[in-house]
Amino acid sequence: MRTIIEPFRIKMTEPIKLLSPEARGKALAAAHYNVFLLDAEDCTIDLLTDSGTGAMSTQQWAAMMLGDESYAGSRSWKKFEATVREITGARHIFPTHQGRAAEGILAQTQVRPGDVIPNNNHFDTTRANMEFAGAQAVDLVCDEGLDPALEAPFKGNMDLDKLERCIQKNGAAKIPFGMITITNNTGGGQPVSMANLRAVKKTLHKHGIPLVIDACRFAENAYFIREYEAGYGDKSLLEIAQETFSYADAATMSCKKDGLANIGGFLVCDDDQWAEDFRSALILREGFPTYGGLAGRDLEAIAVGLMEALDYDYQVYRHATVEYLSKRLIEREVPIVRPAGGHAVFIDAKAFLPHLSPRMYPGIGLVNALYLVGGVRGVELGSVMFGRVDKGGNEIPAPLELVRLAFPRRVYTQSHFDYLIETIEEVWQNRSAIPGYRITYQPKILRHFVCHFEPL
Ligand SMILES: Cc1ncc(COP(=O)(O)O)c(C=O)c1O
Repeated sequence: MRTIIEPFRIKMTEPIKLLSPEARGKALAAAHYNVFLLDAEDCTIDLLTDSGTGAMSTQQWAAMMLGDESYAGSRSWKKFEATVREITGARHIFPTHQGRAAEGILAQTQVRPGDVIPNNNHFDTTRANMEFAGAQAVDLVCDEGLDPALEAPFKGNMDLDKLERCIQKNGAAKIPFGMITITNNTGGGQPVSMANLRAVKKTLHKHGIPLVIDACRFAENAYFIREYEAGYGDKSLLEIAQETFSYADAATMSCKKDGLANIGGFLVCDDDQWAEDFRSALILREGFPTYGGLAGRDLEAIAVGLMEALDYDYQVYRHATVEYLSKRLIEREVPIVRPAGGHAVFIDAKAFLPHLSPRMYPGIGLVNALYLVGGVRGVELGSVMFGRVDKGGNEIPAPLELVRLAFPRRVYTQSHFDYLIETIEEVWQNRSAIPGYRITYQPKILRHFVCHFEPL
Protein backbone atom coordinates (compact mmCIF):
# COMPACT_ATOMS: atom_id res chain seq x y z
CA MET A 1 0.00 0.00 0.00
CA ARG A 2 1.19 3.53 -0.77
CA THR A 3 -0.69 5.21 2.09
CA ILE A 4 1.18 5.26 5.35
CA ILE A 5 -1.44 5.13 8.08
CA GLU A 6 -1.26 6.01 11.77
CA PRO A 7 -0.22 2.69 13.33
CA PHE A 8 -2.81 3.10 16.10
CA ARG A 9 -6.53 3.63 16.64
CA ILE A 10 -7.91 6.48 18.75
CA LYS A 11 -10.12 5.62 21.68
CA MET A 12 -10.17 8.83 23.65
CA THR A 13 -10.73 12.29 22.21
CA GLU A 14 -10.10 15.80 23.42
CA PRO A 15 -12.20 18.67 22.04
CA ILE A 16 -10.55 21.47 20.07
CA LYS A 17 -11.94 24.99 20.41
CA LEU A 18 -12.42 26.99 17.21
CA LEU A 19 -12.15 30.71 18.02
CA SER A 20 -13.28 33.47 15.68
CA PRO A 21 -10.50 35.63 14.17
CA GLU A 22 -11.64 38.54 16.41
CA ALA A 23 -11.38 36.37 19.53
CA ARG A 24 -7.90 35.24 18.47
CA GLY A 25 -6.85 38.86 17.97
CA LYS A 26 -8.02 39.70 21.48
CA ALA A 27 -6.35 36.63 22.99
CA LEU A 28 -3.02 37.45 21.30
CA ALA A 29 -3.10 41.08 22.44
CA ALA A 30 -3.90 39.95 25.99
CA ALA A 31 -0.89 37.60 25.76
CA HIS A 32 1.33 40.57 24.84
CA TYR A 33 1.84 39.04 21.38
CA ASN A 34 3.85 36.19 22.90
CA VAL A 35 2.18 32.86 22.08
CA PHE A 36 3.79 31.25 25.15
CA LEU A 37 1.42 33.44 27.19
CA LEU A 38 -1.76 32.26 25.41
CA ASP A 39 -4.23 29.91 27.04
CA ALA A 40 -3.77 26.51 25.42
CA GLU A 41 -7.50 26.17 24.85
CA ASP A 42 -7.39 29.26 22.66
CA CYS A 43 -5.17 27.35 20.19
CA THR A 44 -6.79 25.27 17.46
CA ILE A 45 -3.69 23.34 16.43
CA ASP A 46 -0.99 23.54 19.07
CA LEU A 47 2.45 22.99 17.57
CA LEU A 48 4.33 24.98 20.19
CA THR A 49 6.36 21.93 21.08
CA ASP A 50 6.61 18.18 20.74
CA SER A 51 7.76 18.08 24.35
CA GLY A 52 5.46 16.28 26.75
CA THR A 53 2.50 16.86 24.44
CA GLY A 54 2.19 13.35 22.99
CA ALA A 55 -0.58 10.81 23.46
CA MET A 56 0.26 7.78 25.52
CA SER A 57 -0.57 4.26 24.39
CA THR A 58 -2.87 1.72 26.05
CA GLN A 59 0.28 -0.09 27.20
CA GLN A 60 1.58 3.05 28.87
CA TRP A 61 -1.71 3.81 30.61
CA ALA A 62 -1.91 0.21 31.78
CA ALA A 63 1.68 0.38 33.05
CA MET A 64 0.83 3.50 35.03
CA MET A 65 -1.64 1.50 37.09
CA LEU A 66 1.29 -0.68 38.16
CA GLY A 67 3.17 2.34 39.48
CA ASP A 68 4.95 1.51 42.70
CA GLU A 69 5.10 4.73 44.70
CA SER A 70 7.63 3.49 47.28
CA TYR A 71 10.16 6.17 48.15
CA ALA A 72 13.21 3.99 47.54
CA GLY A 73 13.94 1.00 45.33
CA SER A 74 10.46 0.70 43.82
CA ARG A 75 9.50 -1.93 41.22
CA SER A 76 8.80 0.92 38.80
CA TRP A 77 12.35 2.21 39.21
CA LYS A 78 13.68 -1.28 38.45
CA LYS A 79 11.75 -1.36 35.16
CA PHE A 80 12.87 2.15 34.27
CA GLU A 81 16.49 1.35 35.10
CA ALA A 82 16.45 -1.91 33.13
CA THR A 83 14.99 -0.22 30.04
CA VAL A 84 17.35 2.76 30.14
CA ARG A 85 20.28 0.39 30.63
CA GLU A 86 19.22 -1.82 27.74
CA ILE A 87 19.14 1.20 25.43
CA THR A 88 22.10 3.20 26.71
CA GLY A 89 24.32 0.55 28.30
CA ALA A 90 25.23 3.16 30.94
CA ARG A 91 26.55 2.07 34.32
CA HIS A 92 24.87 4.85 36.29
CA ILE A 93 21.29 5.95 35.70
CA PHE A 94 19.49 8.87 37.34
CA PRO A 95 15.86 9.79 36.71
CA THR A 96 15.08 13.51 36.58
CA HIS A 97 11.80 15.37 36.27
CA GLN A 98 12.73 16.56 32.76
CA GLY A 99 15.65 17.20 30.45
CA ARG A 100 16.73 20.57 31.81
CA ALA A 101 17.06 19.11 35.29
CA ALA A 102 19.58 16.62 33.89
CA GLU A 103 21.39 19.48 32.13
CA GLY A 104 21.31 21.56 35.31
CA ILE A 105 22.90 18.79 37.36
CA LEU A 106 25.54 18.19 34.68
CA ALA A 107 26.39 21.90 34.49
CA GLN A 108 26.30 22.50 38.21
CA THR A 109 28.63 19.60 38.99
CA GLN A 110 31.08 19.55 36.05
CA VAL A 111 31.26 23.11 34.70
CA ARG A 112 33.40 25.90 36.12
CA PRO A 113 33.36 29.62 35.26
CA GLY A 114 35.48 30.22 32.15
CA ASP A 115 34.91 26.72 30.73
CA VAL A 116 33.92 26.19 27.11
CA ILE A 117 31.24 23.68 26.06
CA PRO A 118 31.17 22.72 22.37
CA ASN A 119 27.97 21.28 20.87
CA ASN A 120 26.59 20.96 17.35
CA ASN A 121 23.91 23.39 18.56
CA HIS A 122 22.96 23.92 22.16
CA PHE A 123 19.25 23.88 22.75
CA ASP A 124 17.99 26.95 24.67
CA THR A 125 17.83 25.28 28.09
CA THR A 126 21.18 23.57 27.53
CA ARG A 127 22.82 26.85 26.60
CA ALA A 128 21.20 28.61 29.56
CA ASN A 129 22.36 25.91 31.98
CA MET A 130 25.94 26.01 30.69
CA GLU A 131 26.05 29.81 30.72
CA PHE A 132 24.47 29.96 34.17
CA ALA A 133 27.39 27.85 35.40
CA GLY A 134 29.76 30.43 33.88
CA ALA A 135 30.73 28.58 30.71
CA GLN A 136 30.74 29.72 27.11
CA ALA A 137 28.39 27.55 25.05
CA VAL A 138 29.82 27.18 21.53
CA ASP A 139 27.90 25.92 18.50
CA LEU A 140 29.98 23.98 15.96
CA VAL A 141 27.40 22.57 13.57
CA CYS A 142 28.65 21.79 10.06
CA ASP A 143 28.30 24.54 7.44
CA GLU A 144 25.55 22.61 5.63
CA GLY A 145 23.49 22.92 8.82
CA LEU A 146 23.58 26.71 8.52
CA ASP A 147 22.02 26.77 5.05
CA PRO A 148 18.27 26.15 5.50
CA ALA A 149 17.56 25.59 1.80
CA LEU A 150 20.32 23.04 1.21
CA GLU A 151 19.12 19.46 0.70
CA ALA A 152 21.76 17.36 2.43
CA PRO A 153 21.58 14.40 4.78
CA PHE A 154 22.77 14.69 8.38
CA LYS A 155 22.87 18.47 8.57
CA GLY A 156 23.03 18.11 12.35
CA ASN A 157 26.60 16.80 12.16
CA MET A 158 29.30 18.59 14.08
CA ASP A 159 32.11 20.16 12.06
CA LEU A 160 35.21 18.22 13.09
CA ASP A 161 37.64 20.95 12.04
CA LYS A 162 35.75 23.53 14.07
CA LEU A 163 35.84 21.13 17.03
CA GLU A 164 39.58 20.56 16.71
CA ARG A 165 40.16 24.34 16.41
CA CYS A 166 37.97 24.98 19.45
CA ILE A 167 40.04 22.51 21.50
CA GLN A 168 43.34 23.99 20.24
CA LYS A 169 42.18 27.53 20.98
CA ASN A 170 40.78 26.96 24.47
CA GLY A 171 42.82 23.96 25.63
CA ALA A 172 41.35 20.65 26.73
CA ALA A 173 41.59 21.67 30.39
CA LYS A 174 38.92 24.31 29.79
CA ILE A 175 36.54 21.83 28.16
CA PRO A 176 35.03 19.54 30.83
CA PHE A 177 33.00 17.76 28.12
CA GLY A 178 31.77 18.13 24.57
CA MET A 179 28.11 17.69 23.69
CA ILE A 180 26.18 16.59 20.63
CA THR A 181 22.44 17.00 20.29
CA ILE A 182 20.49 14.28 18.45
CA THR A 183 18.53 15.29 16.52
CA ASN A 184 19.68 18.89 16.33
CA ASN A 185 16.54 20.74 17.42
CA THR A 186 17.96 24.26 17.16
CA GLY A 187 19.28 23.59 13.67
CA GLY A 188 15.99 22.35 12.21
CA GLY A 189 15.67 18.90 13.81
CA GLN A 190 18.43 17.62 11.55
CA PRO A 191 19.97 14.23 12.32
CA VAL A 192 23.54 13.34 13.22
CA SER A 193 25.13 10.39 11.43
CA MET A 194 26.76 7.50 13.24
CA ALA A 195 29.99 8.26 11.37
CA ASN A 196 29.96 11.81 12.75
CA LEU A 197 29.22 10.61 16.29
CA ARG A 198 32.11 8.18 16.04
CA ALA A 199 34.45 10.88 14.72
CA VAL A 200 33.39 13.43 17.37
CA LYS A 201 34.01 10.82 20.04
CA LYS A 202 37.44 10.06 18.55
CA THR A 203 38.45 13.73 18.47
CA LEU A 204 37.30 14.40 22.03
CA HIS A 205 38.81 11.16 23.31
CA LYS A 206 42.19 12.07 21.79
CA HIS A 207 42.19 15.13 24.05
CA GLY A 208 40.80 13.28 27.08
CA ILE A 209 37.44 15.11 26.88
CA PRO A 210 34.25 13.14 27.63
CA LEU A 211 31.31 13.14 25.19
CA VAL A 212 27.82 13.92 26.50
CA ILE A 213 24.90 13.20 24.18
CA ASP A 214 21.77 15.34 24.45
CA ALA A 215 19.59 12.38 23.52
CA CYS A 216 16.04 13.84 23.55
CA ARG A 217 15.26 12.48 20.08
CA PHE A 218 17.60 9.49 19.97
CA ALA A 219 14.94 7.23 18.41
CA GLU A 220 14.12 9.67 15.60
CA ASN A 221 17.86 10.01 15.00
CA ALA A 222 18.17 6.21 14.89
CA TYR A 223 15.44 6.12 12.24
CA PHE A 224 17.34 8.62 10.06
CA ILE A 225 20.52 6.55 10.41
CA ARG A 226 18.67 3.37 9.42
CA GLU A 227 17.12 5.01 6.37
CA TYR A 228 19.93 7.25 5.14
CA GLU A 229 23.31 5.98 6.35
CA ALA A 230 25.00 3.10 4.54
CA GLY A 231 25.35 -0.07 6.55
CA TYR A 232 22.38 0.40 8.88
CA GLY A 233 19.44 -0.64 6.68
CA ASP A 234 19.12 -4.07 8.24
CA LYS A 235 19.61 -2.99 11.86
CA SER A 236 16.81 -2.51 14.37
CA LEU A 237 16.34 0.96 15.83
CA LEU A 238 17.27 -0.46 19.22
CA GLU A 239 20.59 -1.73 17.86
CA ILE A 240 21.28 1.67 16.30
CA ALA A 241 20.41 3.43 19.56
CA GLN A 242 22.71 1.07 21.43
CA GLU A 243 25.59 1.87 19.11
CA THR A 244 24.79 5.60 19.41
CA PHE A 245 25.03 5.51 23.20
CA SER A 246 28.15 3.33 23.09
CA TYR A 247 30.07 6.50 22.07
CA ALA A 248 28.69 8.53 25.00
CA ASP A 249 30.42 8.95 28.32
CA ALA A 250 27.21 10.50 29.60
CA ALA A 251 23.82 11.54 28.26
CA THR A 252 21.02 13.90 29.17
CA MET A 253 17.50 13.01 28.13
CA SER A 254 14.06 14.56 28.10
CA CYS A 255 11.59 11.66 28.13
CA LYS A 256 8.96 14.18 27.03
CA LYS A 257 10.22 13.57 23.51
CA ASP A 258 11.34 10.05 22.62
CA GLY A 259 10.22 8.71 26.00
CA LEU A 260 6.67 9.27 24.67
CA ALA A 261 5.74 10.47 28.14
CA ASN A 262 4.23 13.71 29.38
CA ILE A 263 6.97 14.30 31.92
CA GLY A 264 10.38 12.88 32.84
CA GLY A 265 14.02 12.74 31.93
CA PHE A 266 17.27 11.10 32.88
CA LEU A 267 20.98 11.59 33.22
CA VAL A 268 23.34 8.65 32.66
CA CYS A 269 27.09 8.22 32.86
CA ASP A 270 29.82 5.62 33.16
CA ASP A 271 32.31 7.47 35.33
CA ASP A 272 32.04 6.74 39.07
CA GLN A 273 33.13 10.22 40.17
CA TRP A 274 30.60 11.91 37.90
CA ALA A 275 27.97 9.49 39.24
CA GLU A 276 28.79 10.47 42.79
CA ASP A 277 28.54 14.17 41.91
CA PHE A 278 25.26 13.64 40.05
CA ARG A 279 23.79 11.58 42.90
CA SER A 280 24.45 14.27 45.49
CA ALA A 281 23.04 17.04 43.29
CA LEU A 282 20.05 14.86 42.41
CA ILE A 283 19.19 14.25 46.05
CA LEU A 284 19.50 17.95 46.73
CA ARG A 285 17.38 19.12 43.80
CA GLU A 286 15.23 16.32 42.40
CA GLY A 287 14.75 13.50 44.88
CA PHE A 288 16.09 10.14 45.97
CA PRO A 289 18.10 8.49 43.16
CA THR A 290 15.48 5.80 42.47
CA TYR A 291 12.72 8.29 41.64
CA GLY A 292 14.51 11.59 40.92
CA GLY A 293 11.50 13.92 40.87
CA LEU A 294 9.13 11.46 39.22
CA ALA A 295 6.23 9.39 40.48
CA GLY A 296 6.51 5.59 40.17
CA ARG A 297 3.75 5.70 37.54
CA ASP A 298 5.80 8.15 35.44
CA LEU A 299 8.77 5.77 35.55
CA GLU A 300 6.46 3.00 34.30
CA ALA A 301 5.09 5.09 31.43
CA ILE A 302 8.61 6.07 30.36
CA ALA A 303 9.91 2.49 30.49
CA VAL A 304 7.20 1.48 28.02
CA GLY A 305 7.42 4.69 25.96
CA LEU A 306 11.16 4.49 25.33
CA MET A 307 10.70 1.12 23.65
CA GLU A 308 7.60 2.23 21.71
CA ALA A 309 9.64 5.12 20.30
CA LEU A 310 12.04 2.53 18.88
CA ASP A 311 9.23 0.72 17.06
CA TYR A 312 10.03 0.95 13.37
CA ASP A 313 6.41 1.29 12.16
CA TYR A 314 5.85 4.14 14.59
CA GLN A 315 8.92 5.97 13.24
CA VAL A 316 7.85 5.37 9.62
CA TYR A 317 4.50 7.01 10.39
CA ARG A 318 6.13 9.81 12.42
CA HIS A 319 8.47 10.66 9.59
CA ALA A 320 5.63 10.46 7.05
CA THR A 321 3.68 13.18 8.92
CA VAL A 322 6.66 15.54 8.73
CA GLU A 323 7.17 14.66 5.06
CA TYR A 324 3.46 15.18 4.31
CA LEU A 325 3.57 18.78 5.47
CA SER A 326 7.03 19.64 4.14
CA LYS A 327 6.31 18.25 0.66
CA ARG A 328 3.18 20.39 0.33
CA LEU A 329 4.96 23.51 1.57
CA ILE A 330 7.80 22.98 -0.89
CA GLU A 331 5.21 22.59 -3.70
CA ARG A 332 3.81 26.00 -2.68
CA GLU A 333 7.36 27.47 -2.58
CA VAL A 334 7.11 28.25 1.13
CA PRO A 335 10.74 28.47 2.34
CA ILE A 336 11.40 25.70 4.84
CA VAL A 337 14.48 24.03 6.25
CA ARG A 338 15.34 21.11 4.01
CA PRO A 339 15.29 18.22 4.21
CA ALA A 340 12.45 17.81 6.73
CA GLY A 341 13.69 17.25 10.25
CA GLY A 342 12.56 14.55 12.63
CA HIS A 343 9.96 16.18 14.83
CA ALA A 344 8.95 19.40 13.15
CA VAL A 345 8.81 21.52 10.06
CA PHE A 346 10.92 24.66 10.34
CA ILE A 347 9.88 27.66 8.24
CA ASP A 348 12.65 30.05 7.25
CA ALA A 349 11.14 33.30 8.54
CA LYS A 350 13.98 35.40 7.07
CA ALA A 351 13.11 34.20 3.57
CA PHE A 352 9.35 34.23 4.27
CA LEU A 353 9.37 37.88 5.43
CA PRO A 354 12.32 39.54 3.66
CA HIS A 355 10.89 42.99 4.47
CA LEU A 356 11.62 42.41 8.19
CA SER A 357 15.19 42.73 9.49
CA PRO A 358 16.30 40.40 12.35
CA ARG A 359 15.76 43.32 14.74
CA MET A 360 12.10 43.34 13.75
CA TYR A 361 11.88 39.67 14.77
CA PRO A 362 10.49 38.08 11.58
CA GLY A 363 9.98 34.81 13.48
CA ILE A 364 7.59 36.49 15.89
CA GLY A 365 5.82 38.17 12.97
CA LEU A 366 5.25 34.78 11.34
CA VAL A 367 4.29 32.96 14.55
CA ASN A 368 1.70 35.60 15.34
CA ALA A 369 0.32 35.64 11.80
CA LEU A 370 -0.18 31.84 11.93
CA TYR A 371 -2.11 32.23 15.17
CA LEU A 372 -4.25 35.10 13.93
CA VAL A 373 -5.14 33.37 10.67
CA GLY A 374 -5.69 29.79 11.84
CA GLY A 375 -5.25 29.54 15.59
CA VAL A 376 -2.02 27.61 14.90
CA ARG A 377 0.57 27.98 17.64
CA GLY A 378 4.21 27.59 16.56
CA VAL A 379 7.41 28.90 18.10
CA GLU A 380 10.16 31.28 17.07
CA LEU A 381 13.69 29.86 17.00
CA GLY A 382 15.49 33.01 15.98
CA SER A 383 16.81 36.22 17.40
CA VAL A 384 14.37 36.32 20.30
CA MET A 385 15.31 32.84 21.48
CA PHE A 386 18.96 32.80 20.45
CA GLY A 387 19.92 36.44 19.91
CA ARG A 388 22.68 37.72 22.17
CA VAL A 389 23.39 41.06 23.75
CA ASP A 390 27.03 42.18 23.61
CA LYS A 391 28.88 44.12 26.32
CA GLY A 392 27.77 47.41 24.78
CA GLY A 393 24.12 46.36 25.05
CA ASN A 394 23.76 45.77 21.30
CA GLU A 395 21.67 42.84 20.10
CA ILE A 396 23.51 40.34 17.94
CA PRO A 397 20.98 38.45 15.82
CA ALA A 398 20.85 34.65 15.69
CA PRO A 399 22.31 33.03 12.55
CA LEU A 400 18.89 31.67 11.54
CA GLU A 401 15.37 33.06 11.92
CA LEU A 402 13.21 29.95 12.06
CA VAL A 403 9.65 29.19 13.04
CA ARG A 404 9.19 25.67 14.29
CA LEU A 405 5.95 23.79 13.90
CA ALA A 406 6.62 20.85 16.21
CA PHE A 407 4.45 17.76 15.99
CA PRO A 408 3.13 16.30 19.22
CA ARG A 409 3.50 12.52 18.99
CA ARG A 410 0.39 10.49 18.00
CA VAL A 411 -1.93 13.50 18.47
CA TYR A 412 -2.96 15.09 15.17
CA THR A 413 -4.39 13.37 12.09
CA GLN A 414 -4.09 14.11 8.40
CA SER A 415 -7.06 16.52 8.34
CA HIS A 416 -5.37 18.61 11.03
CA PHE A 417 -2.35 18.83 8.75
CA ASP A 418 -4.54 19.80 5.80
CA TYR A 419 -6.02 22.61 7.91
CA LEU A 420 -2.48 23.65 8.84
CA ILE A 421 -1.42 23.74 5.18
CA GLU A 422 -4.41 25.97 4.38
CA THR A 423 -3.44 28.32 7.21
CA ILE A 424 0.19 28.58 6.09
CA GLU A 425 -0.91 29.13 2.49
CA GLU A 426 -3.13 32.05 3.50
CA VAL A 427 -0.35 33.61 5.59
CA TRP A 428 2.08 33.10 2.69
CA GLN A 429 -0.23 34.86 0.24
CA ASN A 430 -0.59 37.88 2.54
CA ARG A 431 2.98 37.92 3.82
CA SER A 432 3.92 41.43 2.75
CA ALA A 433 1.39 42.87 5.24
CA ILE A 434 2.85 41.03 8.26
CA PRO A 435 4.37 43.49 10.74
CA GLY A 436 7.57 43.21 12.72
CA TYR A 437 7.63 43.41 16.50
CA ARG A 438 9.59 45.10 19.24
CA ILE A 439 10.17 43.83 22.77
CA THR A 440 8.53 45.89 25.52
CA TYR A 441 9.55 43.69 28.47
CA GLN A 442 12.18 40.97 28.91
CA PRO A 443 13.83 39.09 31.77
CA LYS A 444 17.60 38.43 31.81
CA ILE A 445 17.56 34.74 30.85
CA LEU A 446 15.37 32.60 28.59
CA ARG A 447 13.48 35.72 27.60
CA HIS A 448 11.42 34.11 24.85
CA PHE A 449 9.18 32.31 27.32
CA VAL A 450 7.80 35.39 29.03
CA CYS A 451 8.81 38.57 27.18
CA HIS A 452 6.20 41.00 25.86
CA PHE A 453 5.98 42.33 22.30
CA GLU A 454 4.26 45.12 20.48
CA PRO A 455 3.61 45.19 16.70
CA LEU A 456 5.63 47.85 14.88
C1 LIG B 1 17.47 19.22 22.24
C2 LIG B 1 16.82 19.49 23.55
N1 LIG B 1 17.54 19.43 24.67
C3 LIG B 1 16.99 19.65 25.88
C4 LIG B 1 15.66 19.96 26.03
C5 LIG B 1 15.09 20.21 27.41
O1 LIG B 1 14.19 19.22 27.81
P1 LIG B 1 13.00 19.57 28.84
O2 LIG B 1 12.03 20.44 28.12
O3 LIG B 1 12.42 18.23 29.21
O4 LIG B 1 13.58 20.26 30.03
C6 LIG B 1 14.87 20.04 24.88
C7 LIG B 1 13.44 20.38 25.02
O5 LIG B 1 12.77 20.80 24.11
C8 LIG B 1 15.46 19.80 23.62
O6 LIG B 1 14.75 19.85 22.48
